[in-house]
Amino acid sequence: MRILGINAVFHDPAAAIVVDGTVVAAAEEERFSRRKHGKSPVPFSTWELPEKAAAWCLQRAGLDVSELDAVAYSYDPTLVDASLDGVDAGGWEKLRTLYARRAPEFLKTALPGLDPGIVRFVRHHVAHAASAALASPFGDCAVLTSDGRGESESSVLGEYRDGKFVELAHQSLPHSLGLTYEAATAHLGFQRSSDEYKVMALASYGTPRFLPELRELVFTTGDGGFRTAPIDWERFAPARSRDDEFLPEHADLAASVQRVTEEVLLDLARWLHERTGHTDLALAGGTALNCVANTRLHAEGPFERVWVQPAAGDAGTALGAALQLAADFGEAVEPMGGADLGRGWSDDELEAWLRRADVPYERCADIAETVADALADDAIVAWFQGRAEFGPRALGHRSLLAHPGRAENLERLNDVKGREQFRPVAPMVLEDRAPELFSRGPVPSPYMLFVHDVAPQWRDRIPAVTHVDGTARIQTVSREDEPLVARMLAAFERRTGLPTVVNTSLNTAGRPMVDDPRDALECFGSAPVDLLAIGPFAVRRKGGAA
Ligand SMILES: [Fe+2]
Repeated sequence: MRILGINAVFHDPAAAIVVDGTVVAAAEEERFSRRKHGKSPVPFSTWELPEKAAAWCLQRAGLDVSELDAVAYSYDPTLVDASLDGVDAGGWEKLRTLYARRAPEFLKTALPGLDPGIVRFVRHHVAHAASAALASPFGDCAVLTSDGRGESESSVLGEYRDGKFVELAHQSLPHSLGLTYEAATAHLGFQRSSDEYKVMALASYGTPRFLPELRELVFTTGDGGFRTAPIDWERFAPARSRDDEFLPEHADLAASVQRVTEEVLLDLARWLHERTGHTDLALAGGTALNCVANTRLHAEGPFERVWVQPAAGDAGTALGAALQLAADFGEAVEPMGGADLGRGWSDDELEAWLRRADVPYERCADIAETVADALADDAIVAWFQGRAEFGPRALGHRSLLAHPGRAENLERLNDVKGREQFRPVAPMVLEDRAPELFSRGPVPSPYMLFVHDVAPQWRDRIPAVTHVDGTARIQTVSREDEPLVARMLAAFERRTGLPTVVNTSLNTAGRPMVDDPRDALECFGSAPVDLLAIGPFAVRRKGGAA
């Protein structure tokens, strides 16, 4: 079966294609449209479809739209509780539902030749659940989803047995961990539905002194559900505008919200474990991008292994909806092999781009060695290799790299990216060396979805990637799965004694991650990056450190 998955309703529109139970391609619309998050997260943008991502997925799979067996749309408008108007839609809920109902017709316009009769609606949280459990390497496992909202719910707990989803509990709206966290995000002066990870980073600077009060408002109910009461945030800290200074109580509020979210997730995981007895837990939904909470689930929760869908936000529901339909059709679904499901270019195509841009470049005998040399000389390197990542993290395909031993590189990178200075950058590390440097979080951790403690004897050696609380959000790199990145890390270690490199996403302020070669050249041309390593080619900045 050939199934196209579509996420369009809330934010992060994306498409994915699954052929005979195998994920062939997945991509977010923002990487094509160059508009961060693809669209505005308002109810009246529900009609906007991931047109370019969907067309590319078909092209990558070598399929004409007429050859599709089904389109899986990760929202079922028949499940919307009409009385919910106002939870987050400000009176526009009915319009959102109408747009979702009409999605088959909109899709026909976006993908000429599509038969609207093959579009199937997949419940939003089942799409999240499938994106976790069916894409994971686990087979049968427990699954927990949590986000802002789906049709009428914000969380589902269940299990997959023989590819079939069995629901055990769900939490209906208006109660929502994601919407509560989003409200805190907005109160703290960040962008709702976008900047939640900044709250998590800010939390490290505070103490959770409002936790007792928040526990009265956000708590589990012992049946796989929870309650989230409306919160008067002003009680704890004044609303902050984007350019205002941070007060200590802002960090304390971030720490308190973070902690109560972790506690609820841990309680839900314990309940789910008691009910299912599984050793493995799969997670998805925007809340699962909270790597501090994930680490507590791994370290303190009852499950032996925890796997998080790398595109845990709504983009991943495009993939999950397609996988769920494949399973519903009785197909055996293959776990996803990696997050590099986006676009890629051949060396010849890359060289054609460089010629066209008329920039001096060289073809390297081994780009891994060239980059290791440059990094050892304290260059900032734009690393463009292989297929683009699906999901919000750069995982060694579209990355900015730097020397982790120089504390000032945190500031340098945050300047390149126009980010707040409290934001940490993360290390990529050879998987077999990771246990020596990092503890508490799981190894392997290939998708940067957990935080680890940096071993005390390493903290001073890799200050650029050690967060203020002594943690780091690592990506482990396997020599088998990522041979080029692993070779670069090994070459860097030979030069510096450090088996780790700073890795942050390849983009500048407010832009989506670089996806195609032109984006890479534009990024290189507009930011103080010393070296662009694009395929086997090196482009050097005149007078730069490389
Ligand atoms: Fe969602």
